[in-house]
Order: sequence, then C-alpha cells, then structure tokens
Amino acid sequence: MINFASGLPDPRAIPVSDLREILIEVIEEYGYKALQYAPTRGLPEFIKVLTRFVHKTRGLKALPEDILITTGSQQALELITRLFVNPGEIVIVEEPSYILALNVFKLRNANIIGIAIDENGLRVDILEDTLKKLRREGKRVKLIYTMPLHQNPSGISMSLDRRRYLLELAEEHDFLIIEDDAYALLGFDDLLTPALASEDRFGRVLYLSTLSKTLAPGLRVGYLIAHEDVIMKLAAIKQACDLGTSTLSQAIGAKAIEKSVIDKNVERIKRLYKIKMDLMIEAIDEFFPKHIWRSSPGGGFYVWVKLNRDIDTEEVLKLSSKCGVLFTPGKRFCVNQDLCRDAMRLSFSNPSEDSIKIGIQILGDILHSNVKTPCY
Ligand SMILES: Cc1ncc(COP(=O)(O)O)c(C=O)c1O
Repeated sequence: MINFASGLPDPRAIPVSDLREILIEVIEEYGYKALQYAPTRGLPEFIKVLTRFVHKTRGLKALPEDILITTGSQQALELITRLFVNPGEIVIVEEPSYILALNVFKLRNANIIGIAIDENGLRVDILEDTLKKLRREGKRVKLIYTMPLHQNPSGISMSLDRRRYLLELAEEHDFLIIEDDAYALLGFDDLLTPALASEDRFGRVLYLSTLSKTLAPGLRVGYLIAHEDVIMKLAAIKQACDLGTSTLSQAIGAKAIEKSVIDKNVERIKRLYKIKMDLMIEAIDEFFPKHIWRSSPGGGFYVWVKLNRDIDTEEVLKLSSKCGVLFTPGKRFCVNQDLCRDAMRLSFSNPSEDSIKIGIQILGDILHSNVKTPCY
C-alpha cells in the first residue's frame, strides 16, 4: 500500500539513536524518579525547559504555571472541550479542519460551524458576518479552533492581518481561540511566524502543541499554554483522566530540548519533508487532470486537492485502494460535507520518495479515466 492517508512522520524523522542515548541518560540521572508518578500538570524539569523553548521558537512568554503537559496535544483538545463546551454550544472550525478535532467536538454534541479558508487562511470576513448573524439571533460562539500555521489538511497558513483581525473579533464577540500549532516548526522556509498566542493581549488564546511531529509521536507528549486559572481547571480534569502524562516521556522531552536534539532534528526533517512535498506537487501537476486545484503548502505534512468535478472522492478511494493507494477523502474534514465532496488530502510525510511519484501517477490514471476503470 502507498499510504497518503495517514499523518505519520517519516520513519527517518524520528531520531532513534539520539533518543537511545537520551533514554540511558534519563535512567542514570533520574533513577526511579523517571518511572515514578509526576505532578499532573507535568514534570517540573520539563516545564522549565519548555518555557524557554516556546519563548525561543514561538515568541511565547509563558510562566511555568501557565503550562499543562498533556498526553499528546489531542488530549489538550479533549480537555478544553470538556471544560468550555456544553452540548449544543457553538464551536467554529476552519473548513476543512483536522478530523480528530472535529471528532472531539462531535462527541461533545457541539453545534459545529465551518468557515471557509482560502490561500491566506481563515476567511475572517465570512467569520465576522457569521458572528454578527449569530449575535442577531441571540446565539453565542464559545470557541474557535484554528491552525494558523501549515494547517491540517491543507498546509495553508493564515496571513498576519487576518490573525490580528481574528484576535480583535475574539475580544469583540467574546469567544476563546484554540491555536493548534502542531506543524509550526515544520515550515519549509526559514521565516518563522510567532504564535498567534504571542500577540494575544486579551488572554483569549489557548495554545497547544506537541512533540509528535518534531521528535516522536510515540512519546505522547503535548503541551497546553493558557492563563494559570484555566490550567488549574484543566489539570483537575486531566487528573481524572490519566493522573498525568508519562514521566519517562517528559524526562526524555526535557533532555531532547536541553541537548538541542529537537532543534537539530527540526532543521534536518524540514529539508526531508520539503523534498517530499516538492515531489508530490510536481507529480500532481504532471499526472492529475489540469482542471484540479491544489494547495501550495508552506510546511507541514499535507497537500489538499480539489478535483473541481461532480465526483465523490470516497468513490475514488474505493478504486484507488484496489490499486494499492490510500488517501483521505475531503468530506471527512468538513462540516459542510458537500463542499468537500470532490476534495482529497494527500499526506507526503510517510511514504518513501519513490512511492510518492508512483502513487500519484496511479491516482492520476484513475482520475483521467473518469473514475470508472478499476485498477489493472
Ligand atoms: C493539527 C493536529 N493537531 C493535533 C494532533 C494530535 O497530535 P498528538 O496528539 O500526537 O500531539 C495532530 C496529529 O496528527 C494534528 O495533525
């Protein structure tokens, strides 16, 4: 199978030999403490280095008490939703958005509204109209979930003026923003836009990120940054869920930051992913029908393709999987599913360079043959 469906890192992106050394050091240095319970909020040694790391890399001025270590950033999404969203309350998401965030909001029975994105990210003009309309109807938005940099599934980033406007709208219409920064460090140029939360004067942004894309997803380490009062409430919910994130994983994370293993890894894997993205978009431009639209990701793991035809990509997937190629159909990322019926997310992070070209060629063949011809 050529798997363009999942967002798994490239196997070479996980620095196994560095992690082996770190693991030994951690056991020698921490002894039993590496395998003992840690405070629910997180291992103090990890939180300490993390405050410096997020300041250096994302321009965030967080105090240790503003940080909650989570079991992957996925858990941060779940905790925030449990605390802030009651069933039926309104949550706004980008259209398309991250499937597993949508699932969290769906499981909470939230009223999810999708707002379109374009090449400059979230359409804040449509958002504003929607907010005004909702206000006229006496309805209030609780949360907006956004991935301002290299969003999943499109790889698109929000422009600086739209980011600022979003912060203003949050203040004017009294809602919170979840900033999911999972792919921020994996931008293909060396310009690194600071986190939205670093410009947040009103305390409206709940920032979350992860070691999954820059170090290793199997560690299951994410982090959430918000006002201390919010962190305390979220920590109480987390305690009920899992008592705390793996102490061993946090100690590894702390060492990986201290020893600049993450910094070096990021520099290396950014190049690796850029090569793979270039291969994928070249292959799309060569093999897909000419009337399609594709995103031009500035970073991250994914390309978003709109076929611009009356076609359901779930049907395309049925055929392509018979030919050994998987991708994720667009509808799954969208609230207004009809708008994304003809779309697909293609992940270039995990498949090998050789299989990217072959897989896209197979998809192109299927699309050219009007999706009727089964594979070989
Ligand atoms: C946008 C986004 N947020 C959050 C996550 C969850 O990552 P983790 O729980 O491994 O930190 C992912 C994983 O793919 C993601 O793409």
